[in-house]
Amino acid sequence: MLRIVSAGLMAAAIAFGLSAPSTAAGNPANGEKLFKKCAACHSLEEGKKKVGPSLYKIFGATPGQVPKFRYSKGLVEYGQTGAVWDAETLDAWLTKPKDVVKRTKMAFPGFKKVEDRADMIAYLKSLSE
Ligand code: HEC
Repeated sequence: MLRIVSAGLMAAAIAFGLSAPSTAAGNPANGEKLFKKCAACHSLEEGKKKVGPSLYKIFGATPGQVPKFRYSKGLVEYGQTGAVWDAETLDAWLTKPKDVVKRTKMAFPGFKKVEDRADMIAYLKSLSE
């Protein structure tokens, strides 16, 4: 009896140990795949504008600062608050852009899964390093 219980606990500990880090840190390779959902509107090349601004080195950048892109007023104002695109602000943005900037022009429904957001953010971060 005791054996069975401790084996069960071990299995739970192993499963937890293996799954926890990948969720917390994000997987950039999967983020690169997910970028397909962004690529219709965003390029990662510097200065290349599509429907949305270039996301070149966006991690760590101030919102609404890509030259010659006509942002919504709200996004520019968001940048003026001293906000920076980091893991926390990008997580909120990719959950639901309209919750961060009410009248944003970014028509993206958001990633529901926290893992998808973490992977996307890890990918964008890797490109800014
Ligand atoms: C339908 C087109 C569209 C899609 C799809 C889209 N975006 Fe956007 N995105 C925009 C537009 C337009 C803006 C500018 C928003 C504004 O001015 O309010 C923007 C702005 C942004 C910004 C802020 C840029 C800055 O310079 O501050 C980030 C970050 C961003 N998008 C990331 C993403 C990511 C990551 C994805 C994919 C998960 C994505 N977007 C999908 C259109 C899109």
